[in-house]
Amino acid sequence: MARMRQKMKKLRYWSPSTFIVVFIHINILVTRAEGFDSVIQLPRSGLRRTRTRSKWVLSVGDYGAKGDGLHNDTEAFMEAWKMACSLPGFINVVFPYGKTFLVHPVDIGGPCRSKITLRISGTIVAPQDPVMWYGLNQRKWLYFHGVNHLTVDGGGRINGMGQEWWARSCKINSTNALTFHRCKDLKVRNIILLNSQQMHVSFTNCMRVVASHLKVLAPASSPNTDGIHISATKGVEVRDTVIRTGDDCISIVRNSSRVWVRNISCGPGHGISLGKSKTWEKVQNVIVDGAYLYNTDNGVRIKTWQGGSGLASKITFQNILMENVSNPILINQYYCDSRQPCQNEPREHLASGIDRQTSAVKVENISFIDIQGTTATEEAIKFACSDGSPCEGLYLENIFLAPCFGGNTSSLCWQAHGSARGFLHPPACFSSTNDFIRQNVRLESNPAIHSV
Ligand SMILES: *[C@@H]1O[C@H](CO)[C@@H](O)[C@H](O)[C@H]1NC(C)=O
Ligand SMILES: *[C@@H]1O[C@H](CO)[C@@H](O)[C@H](O)[C@H]1NC(C)=O
Ligand SMILES: *[C@@H]1O[C@H](CO)[C@@H](O)[C@H](O)[C@H]1NC(C)=O
Ligand SMILES: *[C@@H]1O[C@H](CO)[C@@H](O)[C@H](O)[C@H]1NC(C)=O
Ligand SMILES: *[C@@H]1O[C@H](CO)[C@@H](O)[C@H](O)[C@H]1NC(C)=O
Ligand SMILES: *[C@@H]1O[C@H](CO)[C@@H](O)[C@H](O)[C@H]1NC(C)=O
Ligand SMILES: *[C@@H]1O[C@H](CO)[C@@H](O)[C@H](O)[C@H]1NC(C)=O
Repeated sequence: MARMRQKMKKLRYWSPSTFIVVFIHINILVTRAEGFDSVIQLPRSGLRRTRTRSKWVLSVGDYGAKGDGLHNDTEAFMEAWKMACSLPGFINVVFPYGKTFLVHPVDIGGPCRSKITLRISGTIVAPQDPVMWYGLNQRKWLYFHGVNHLTVDGGGRINGMGQEWWARSCKINSTNALTFHRCKDLKVRNIILLNSQQMHVSFTNCMRVVASHLKVLAPASSPNTDGIHISATKGVEVRDTVIRTGDDCISIVRNSSRVWVRNISCGPGHGISLGKSKTWEKVQNVIVDGAYLYNTDNGVRIKTWQGGSGLASKITFQNILMENVSNPILINQYYCDSRQPCQNEPREHLASGIDRQTSAVKVENISFIDIQGTTATEEAIKFACSDGSPCEGLYLENIFLAPCFGGNTSSLCWQAHGSARGFLHPPACFSSTNDFIRQNVRLESNPAIHSV
């Protein structure tokens, strides 16, 4: 058993009206984590009905972090985390304000006894040189897995120092800055994320996630720097967030459902994007309600690979304002970003009659409601669906997309079936069905608290 002498600070909240801060400065000789129980005071019985909780505060500084931006503070973070993870109750792990902590790739695993808040008030920076990942998994920098009830906040910054990675992006697989894998009941809020090597925040196989009040910033020219990436995750709320990057502001892929996106400002970047994985894909019950997209390469899009399989359904995009957006409304079942040519786009099929791959992700029941603004491309609405698996149940209502620089806007439909209502400019181009299928994706109460 490790013997540790630690300075502990303890905050105590008795009730909302009486806020008492007990600042205990003690040296404790610990042999067992349970040893801490004796210093956590139980609430007085008279206060039982008020919400009472105590919080430990562990600063990485007390575990040897220098915070000068040069010293390797990884070990200090890991030690502070290890301690926090082993204690009962609510624990804050603090990166103090005004300091810069150099953290090398870390693998932070749960489960923990405690509910941890990682309070980043200062700045965490990555090593600049990708060589530091030599022998390590190149896809991970700050990697949290299997941690439940984690909150990340604090108003500070996480800087991926991605410039060196971007310069070599064709030659190496880049790392994602902040990855949460198999985490449940996760909150990430009030953080600035800068210049990630690749994706800024990635949620994979998580459940009940709230990401809010984030600012995600990277140059428009930085490759693959998605803002928020959601993969195989159920119950996600993303809100009140500004994203300006070189790739998708928000991307939602694989087995993801009950995703609620609201009050998002996006651009530059590639817009809000659903689907992309090359094999099996299922994205369902998604609502994007309230977004401002500015100077983006795409607006709201669903992209799937030919030859893929699965389903994208029950998806609503509404209350969206676009400004100078290329491809504002786009469904593309012919998505291709590989260096080899993929199968042709539908228009070319018309001319050449080239064989098409027939398997595709089924795209069904997608609504676009109250979307307006300006488009940088003439084709403001494009539904390029596959022959083998046409799009069904598309719905357009109150769309007004005017060209940025005069001229006219148009829509393109290929194997797209649906219905429309209200004012539409450009007009819908469906081979129409007359039954209206307006998606009522309702995730009104916080989806993050819904059970799955
Ligand atoms: C930084 O510290 C971590 C944790 O001790 C260690 O694994 C890593 O090798 C260190 N990196 C360098 C470049 O010193
Ligand atoms: C990138 O990762 C993929 C698998 O994820 C691997 O097949 C490929 O070899 C890697 N490329 C480089 C340059 O490391
Ligand atoms: C929308 O998000 C921004 C931060 O990006 C915030 O300042 C603003 O208050 C939010 N609006 C609403 C209505 O919550
Ligand atoms: C998709 O998610 C569901 C529900 O969480 C799960 O039962 C299923 O196994 C997942 N499918 C794949 C292919 O991961
Ligand atoms: C429109 O967006 C493009 C990027 O997609 C940008 O290069 C261009 O400067 C923008 N135009 C205006 C008028 O903002
Ligand atoms: C699409 O909507 C129709 C009508 O509400 C429904 O019958 C069908 O099951 C839905 N499809 C999917 C894949 O959700
Ligand atoms: C604009 O395009 C629509 C079809 O997309 C057409 O009906 C309309 O006449 C065009 N307007 C002008 C001014 O060219």
